[in-house]
Amino acid sequence: MDQNVDITLKVNGQSVSRRIPARTNLVDFVRYELELTGSHVGCEHGVCGACTIRVDGQIVRGCLMLAAQADGAEVETIEGLSEDGSISDLQQAFHERNAVQCGFCTPGMLLTAEELLQKNPSPSREDIREFISGNYCRCTGYQAIVDAIERVANERSA
Ligand code: FES
Ligand code: FES
Repeated sequence: MDQNVDITLKVNGQSVSRRIPARTNLVDFVRYELELTGSHVGCEHGVCGACTIRVDGQIVRGCLMLAAQADGAEVETIEGLSEDGSISDLQQAFHERNAVQCGFCTPGMLLTAEELLQKNPSPSREDIREFISGNYCRCTGYQAIVDAIERVANERSA
């Protein structure tokens, strides 16, 4: 029998309260409860990065965190970051460099790239590859993704 919990958190700037099964993970919560379907579910084991979500300013694996653990937190998804324009340069660079094919990995990739650029504004290509190594992409071969992130790093620090 599922035990339910009441949670209140901020998602993309909006306060949200729900009663949910205690074992609901964060990515299922945003996708199915809030219909924010930009965060994807791939491996469900913390390996692929498709479910990447930002919680209190840090990226997390949405498949490994319970929604109940985000009670009281500020959660940001790709929808929020797209709407506020804060990663529009990354989105544009991914588009222009052809770093998006099926797009399944892209929301997680963009959130991870943004975290990298906040921590290290001038990463080497090696740094970029290392930082995105937990985000799997089955389509692009990564070259174009690394190019896009490198371009934004250069543009932001110009
Ligand atoms: S679905 Fe969470 S890391 Fe793969
Ligand atoms: S663009 Fe298809 S998985 Fe990365």
